[in-house]
Amino acid sequence: MNKLHILQERVSVSKLQEPAPDGHALYEVFKAAVRAADHGMLQPRRFLVISGVGLQQLSHVFVTAATKANPAISPAVLEKCKNMPNRAPMIIVAIAKCQPNLKIPRQEQVIACGAAVQNMLNALFALGYGAIWRTGEMTQDTHVKNELGLVEDEEIIGFIYVGTPVQEFSSPPDIDVNTFFKAWPDE
Ligand SMILES: Cc1cc2nc3c(=O)[nH]c(=O)nc-3n(C[C@H](O)[C@H](O)[C@H](O)COP(=O)(O)O)c2cc1C
Repeated sequence: MNKLHILQERVSVSKLQEPAPDGHALYEVFKAAVRAADHGMLQPRRFLVISGVGLQQLSHVFVTAATKANPAISPAVLEKCKNMPNRAPMIIVAIAKCQPNLKIPRQEQVIACGAAVQNMLNALFALGYGAIWRTGEMTQDTHVKNELGLVEDEEIIGFIYVGTPVQEFSSPPDIDVNTFFKAWPDE
């Protein structure tokens, strides 16, 4: 098989069901994450892997966070927050673990965490699992960050929802790469 197929065909999957990867498959995904490009080999990234009762606990954290942020929140919006962690059998929280460094600015460290997330998405797709990278208000919320144990200089860069696709993988959009790449200087 064309070795680039995985990178070129990967798509996000929002409708996910059991099973999520475990055991060796999950280990393979983690290995892909920690081999993402990383200026200075700082490994400015860590991940929380949440499944089972952990998802119920995360649901509770989201409800409390949403209520604290807006005590007048509507029941419908609150219900949506409550159900967010139920959208997949596993959520991997990607945390940029930035550290002061004279040569490697914070932005590069956050990017290195993002690179690890993309490696995980590709690895999951390669193994036949579905995943989608989501952010939203909960990534910025102080209550959520505290409950998940984030410390200063850390930030949530995504909730990666992981599982088995409910339907077949969709086809990727046909993107004209020439729109994005040009020779420089102009020929
Ligand atoms: C940093 C980042 C944050 C994202 N946050 C969300 C999100 O909160 N909700 C969402 O539906 N998609 C979000 N996306 C987009 C999806 O992960 C996905 O890339 C998009 O739906 C396009 O699908 P594709 O990956 O199959 O091209 C985010 C993507 C990135 C890179």
